[in-house]
Amino acid sequence: MTACLTDPNILEALQRASADQLHLLKAPAETWQPADLTGELTGGSWQDAVLEIRREAEPLPADALACLAGSLITEEALPSYQAWLNRHLEFRDETGTDTTPWAQWTRAWSAEENRHGDVLNRYLYLSGRADMRAVELTIHHLIRNGFNLGSGSHVYKSIVYASFQERATRISHRNMGLLAHEHGAKKLGRICALIAGDEARHEQAYQNLFKVCLSADPDQAVTAMGEMLLSKIVMPARLMSDGTGRDLFSDYSILAQRLGIYTTRDYAETLLFLAETWGLAKLRGLSAEASAALEKIFKTAEKYQRKSAQIAEALGSVEVQAFSWIRPTPP
Ligand SMILES: [Fe+2]
Ligand SMILES: [Fe+2]
Repeated sequence: MTACLTDPNILEALQRASADQLHLLKAPAETWQPADLTGELTGGSWQDAVLEIRREAEPLPADALACLAGSLITEEALPSYQAWLNRHLEFRDETGTDTTPWAQWTRAWSAEENRHGDVLNRYLYLSGRADMRAVELTIHHLIRNGFNLGSGSHVYKSIVYASFQERATRISHRNMGLLAHEHGAKKLGRICALIAGDEARHEQAYQNLFKVCLSADPDQAVTAMGEMLLSKIVMPARLMSDGTGRDLFSDYSILAQRLGIYTTRDYAETLLFLAETWGLAKLRGLSAEASAALEKIFKTAEKYQRKSAQIAEALGSVEVQAFSWIRPTPP
């Protein structure tokens, strides 16, 4: 799996494709900022801004808020993700201010992502429902612990993973927004919908970039997809910790599954969506290794789709300890 790292033609094609994706990122002045959604506290009616959030967050179940905290913690580990995207030796922002399209993309993407953690953090803080120190401690641990996908410095692996992950976060923010609306938390619903909108633009860009990998080097690209998105898939916040031995991420995943924020069915459907978007079923003349990977991709998606109800039922009875992030009842 080294050809793509040294083939300058493919790297050039990816730079050209990155240039074509830049329009999918918004200029700072044209997009939302956290303060647009959580309000300013400088005016005479600052109490109203705070009370509005506190009131709407009151009826939200503790489990839903724990899920929100888990998403926020994941978003706040952005330094790890930007470092990860910059790990390709021949395809990175070498100086920190490079003008190549990929370097511009990674910085502008990070700048958009940075608002996600900020706005969720502020909402949770103003809601009065969270133990913010416990949340901050988990963020601190997560960034210290890092994030290892096993993608090494392989460009195809990073791009295919980002294609998947942006869609997964889009789904989970969208579902969190719907859940918030169900409980009358309109502001939170709007915040989550706007974040999901950002993720939708991001997923489109990474999926377009992976199309370039597939058309230039289908064997290696399909193999990379099989390696990154099947049984060994590592989620960004896998190493979240509260400093004890508890497997926080596992508990958070169970909760997300239970509340319908992100489920096994979502995983299977994402795999099938990507296969369809990239026309994988129509690929011909693949190497034996790539053909085997392709077959496994479809089999895995079908297996998880078939078993999703069973998995949901089994996880429904698993006991999950309360999270230190959320106060069980409103103050
Ligand atoms: Fe995000
Ligand atoms: Fe994103």
